[in-house]
Amino acid sequence: MSMLSRRQFVQASAFAAAGLLAGCGSSGGDAAPAADASEYTLVNEGKLTCISNLFFPPFESMNEATGEPEGFDIDVSKSLAEHMGLEVNWLPSQDFDTLVPTIKNGGKADVAIAGMTITDKRKEEVDMSDPYVDSNQSIVVKAGSSETAETLDDASKTIAVQGGTTGADWADENLPNATKKRLSTIIDAMSGVQSGLYDAVVCDLPVSRYQIKMSYSDLEIIEEIPTGEQYGIAVSKDNPGLTAAINAALAEMETDGSMDAIEAEWFGSAL
Ligand code: ARG
Repeated sequence: MSMLSRRQFVQASAFAAAGLLAGCGSSGGDAAPAADASEYTLVNEGKLTCISNLFFPPFESMNEATGEPEGFDIDVSKSLAEHMGLEVNWLPSQDFDTLVPTIKNGGKADVAIAGMTITDKRKEEVDMSDPYVDSNQSIVVKAGSSETAETLDDASKTIAVQGGTTGADWADENLPNATKKRLSTIIDAMSGVQSGLYDAVVCDLPVSRYQIKMSYSDLEIIEEIPTGEQYGIAVSKDNPGLTAAINAALAEMETDGSMDAIEAEWFGSAL
């Protein structure tokens, strides 16, 4: 399978990007947060320590050449840190479903930045920042297959999902009869569909679009599902000042062009 350079992908996908992401970090209309943005704690002085599951391109992945994490969320973390007068420190990848518990337990990382959808369930465990990306779900199958959402909802069909994600929840609710396979990364899910192990993947639309363009040209999206999800940054409930400071930095990034530049870098145009 051929790999496009990121630049080629950006050109190829610029047309598809409209409507995919929207800068929506400002909290206009919402009640002002009670916390003082200048008062927060950090696990390491002067550093914003970040965790993610680093197998979710273009939001986060490991650059094999440099051994460093890269992606939309990595650039967001750098810009956030800059706006807050901090350095950024990325910890090694961990399973997606361990991120919220890690932030909740405290002591290891300050934030999880992981293309993480803001949900009521997660908000019971951690605080979520204002939204910074709009997203939806998608169903991905082998190109040319005759599967539909209807034919996939059958016990003989295996749907691969990343454990603990909103895609996994969507599949549970909407493909109740299908067999679900929970994997630790969406890359494993897509590779498994490619090799015929699984019949479909349910995954965030921006990620399935990017992955099909970059690495899985033999897969296709058969359904785009308008779930109206929004990504936010997870912060401990014990650290409301940090959430407030992050929201203030996100708002600045929206107005000073930083967010547009990051969107242009990873999705081809400022949206
Ligand atoms: N947006 C989805 C969710 O919040 C999937 C996120 C997966 N992110 C990752 N870094 N693997 O459940």
